[in-house]
Amino acid sequence: MKTCTRTLFSLLLIWAWPCHAATVLITGANRGLGLEFVRQYAARDWIVIAITRAPETSQELNALSAANTDIKVERLDVTDMASIKALALKYKGVPIDILINNAGVLGDLSTQRLESLERNDFQRVMMTNAFGPLAMAEAFREHVRSSEQKKIVAISSGNSIVSGNSVAGGLYAYRSSKAALNILMRGLATDLAE
Ligand SMILES: NC(=O)c1ccc[n+]([C@@H]2O[C@H](COP(=O)([O-])OP(=O)(O)OC[C@H]3O[C@@H](n4cnc5c(N)ncnc54)[C@H](OP(=O)(O)O)[C@@H]3O)[C@@H](O)[C@H]2O)c1
Repeated sequence: MKTCTRTLFSLLLIWAWPCHAATVLITGANRGLGLEFVRQYAARDWIVIAITRAPETSQELNALSAANTDIKVERLDVTDMASIKALALKYKGVPIDILINNAGVLGDLSTQRLESLERNDFQRVMMTNAFGPLAMAEAFREHVRSSEQKKIVAISSGNSIVSGNSVAGGLYAYRSSKAALNILMRGLATDLAE
């Protein structure tokens, strides 16, 4: 029964989706760069699926959405496979031109130095910054494939660059996670080249 209701909801969503407009999905859309991406795409008349972990406390995002029905606020945690799969199912059949994997965490800086390394925080940063975008790409690849632009984007960091003379120490979890993000995006480019 639950599956039937979900399928019916998805069909209604596809039916109601404007076919003229391009669509972007943005993770971490409630603040920072993600919120600005929402503003910029909405200002260019895109349909924006704006992801936040907590819609109930995302005041600025909710205000943008209240003023523009093309901004759809959705709940999702990029480390939670169940929430990723549920949203992918909800939007099944809806083309997503650009998936922007923006959500990210710096982590606790005090646990990213030699002498004070801590496993849990390292895992949380890796799961959010590296596994999250990979899981999003897996779940939404059909939505992207069926779109016009077919783009999957990730926000990396200069802190992940391995070559050059300016490689500093510390910040181990964040830097490792962004370096992992870079190489997994290369892998996705190969796997999804077709
Ligand atoms: N700002 C910079 O100078 C800079 C430089 C290089 C790269 N970047 C990268 O650019 C991206 C955005 O940076 P920012 O400065 O705008 O960061 P920010 O202000 O700290 O915002 C991070 C966003 O990610 C969300 N997020 C964190 N964990 C999440 C999870 N598990 N599931 C879903 N959403 C989650 C946060 O949601 P909550 O509000 O719920 O925490 C927030 O919306 C990040 O990937 C960052 O590493 C930023």
